[in-house]
Amino acid sequence: MSNPGDYDAVRRDIVAQLKKPDYDDGSAGPVFVRLAWHSAGTYDAKSDTGGSNGAGMRYEAEGGDPANAGLQHGRAFLEPVKEKNPWITYADLWTLAGAVAIEEMGGPKIPWLPGRTDLVDDSKVPPRGRLPDGAQGADHLRFIFNRMGFNDQEIVALAGGHNLGRCHSDRSGFEGPWVNNPTRFSNQFFKLLLRLQWTPKTLANGVRQFVYVDPDAEEGDEQLMMLPTDVALIEDPKMRVWVEKYAEDKDLFFEHFSNVFAKLVELGIRRDASGMVLNTDNVKGGYVSAPKKSNQATGPVQARL
Ligand code: HEM
Repeated sequence: MSNPGDYDAVRRDIVAQLKKPDYDDGSAGPVFVRLAWHSAGTYDAKSDTGGSNGAGMRYEAEGGDPANAGLQHGRAFLEPVKEKNPWITYADLWTLAGAVAIEEMGGPKIPWLPGRTDLVDDSKVPPRGRLPDGAQGADHLRFIFNRMGFNDQEIVALAGGHNLGRCHSDRSGFEGPWVNNPTRFSNQFFKLLLRLQWTPKTLANGVRQFVYVDPDAEEGDEQLMMLPTDVALIEDPKMRVWVEKYAEDKDLFFEHFSNVFAKLVELGIRRDASGMVLNTDNVKGGYVSAPKKSNQATGPVQARL
């Protein structure tokens, strides 16, 4: 068991969980990145609610949101890390796992700060419906991400998360990977978005996505895909400018992605000058914090003899 505050030990334990030969493309990295992003992407700047503080996905109200389908795998993969480092909060563990996964898969270093607290019950879990819907377009992306405080450039940079992982028909209904090497972080997503021809395809379940019909494909080859929201990034002229920049300049994308991911996992977290987190259980924004539950078994207080 590590000493409280030994985040390097936690990082090492997260790294040890990444390799998963029997899971997806052999890595838990992509689902860790999505877990971190969905834990933070509920933030609403106006009401100052949601965000990565709280780790509300431990409760059915948020964890059972269809938008979070599949993330239970990421959370389960991190349980051994929590067991070895019981002092870390889930909110810190999930966001750190995303940052570590990006770095380990060849991405940029992500500045990450600890101190998030976990909700003590589900009374402060943000409402469902705050995460983006891949079936929509640029207006929807702006609606969702402006609410968190992100502009067009930041939306495009964040969407570069789709250099990793894949869609699963039993989770989102969409199917397939965006790139050929979905466990290596790069700017390939932007290059493919611009260079390949994306053809609409309606899957057997009725879901509409875009695919690249490769004339040289062989039997059993997996088709690359794009979500309607991904294709919206090149159809919208203002967003397209950033897709072009990131396709051309990997270093620029890495720098911007690092900044924006660090910003994402800090949404709604208030710190003092020394970096100490001031919000307890999302008390900020009009919530009234419930008293912390004891970690000890509770019962009638025994009179001391
Ligand atoms: C722009 C709006 C976004 C939409 C509409 C969207 C939608 C989706 C959908 C439908 C999936 C497939 C889920 C599944 O079936 O397992 C997915 C996967 C994924 N998304 Fe996004 N996403 C968005 C933004 C982001 C952002 C900001 C990040 C991170 C920076 C991200 C990272 C990922 C990753 C890594 C996966 C793969 C997960 C896995 O392999 O299990 N996405 N996304």
